Amino acid sequence: MSDKHRIPSSAQLIIFSGAGLSAESGLSTFRGTSGLWENVPLDVVCNFATWERNFDAVHAFYDARRIAASDAKPNQAHVIIAEWQKRWPDRVRILTQKVDPLLERAGCHSVVHLHGDALSMHCVVCDLQWKIEAVAYDQSGCPTCGKKKTVKPAVVFFGQAAPEYETLHTIVRNLRPSDTAIIVGTSGTVLPADQLFGASPAFSILVNLEPGTAMNEAAFSARHYGPATQILPELTGLIEKRM
Ligand code: APR
Repeated sequence: MSDKHRIPSSAQLIIFSGAGLSAESGLSTFRGTSGLWENVPLDVVCNFATWERNFDAVHAFYDARRIAASDAKPNQAHVIIAEWQKRWPDRVRILTQKVDPLLERAGCHSVVHLHGDALSMHCVVCDLQWKIEAVAYDQSGCPTCGKKKTVKPAVVFFGQAAPEYETLHTIVRNLRPSDTAIIVGTSGTVLPADQLFGASPAFSILVNLEPGTAMNEAAFSARHYGPATQILPELTGLIEKRM
């Protein structure tokens, strides 16, 4: 079993995060008031079936995301997750739907980006992926095959395969009662965290700004509503007891 899928013998802490984790760093969420999808139709900029005919709109949207991420600083929620990872080496797994690098900037490692990486580009013809960091894409084309219109941001679009979902399902399948899962800053719209973690044997804690997502929030072992920067540090005592 690859290291990514190795299950530690003692209790583990799984962090499963969405856009809400970076909200207090100034990065917009997707849904709810002033969510990204309120202002830009996701079918134009995040749909694998239509992206090539919206090439310029796609790159303008992700250029804006990339540049916003360049100025963003990790917040206290990112920082406490990094501290937990340092404190319990190899027992804290981080799975994020976010495509920004704020968890890594806070000092986290081995972060599984389930929906890809906005700071990288991907050529859909030769499958090359390369970092361009936090800048606007210069539309110079694929470094390997030279094609220009086959290059998209290395973000998983709707209708596109998400290879890292295998890692997610392997971790979920192997959850035990001694494990703790913190589900933070996600509406569960794309990945049904209530069915993934709420239905698992692990002790699952939902942390969102407010109740009212489409998820069955009662499925989680516990629910905390408020800013992640305030709630996550307050969970350290509970986690200590379980680790
Ligand atoms: N602290 C904690 N939670 C927060 C905060 C905060 N400061 N701000 C917002 N939230 C919560 C909201 O309550 C909401 O439930 O974050 C969640 C954001 O939900 P979405 O905008 O739907 O983001 P997410 O769940 O990550 O979307 C999933 O959809 O469009 C796709 O690929 C995209 O990965 C994304 C996926």
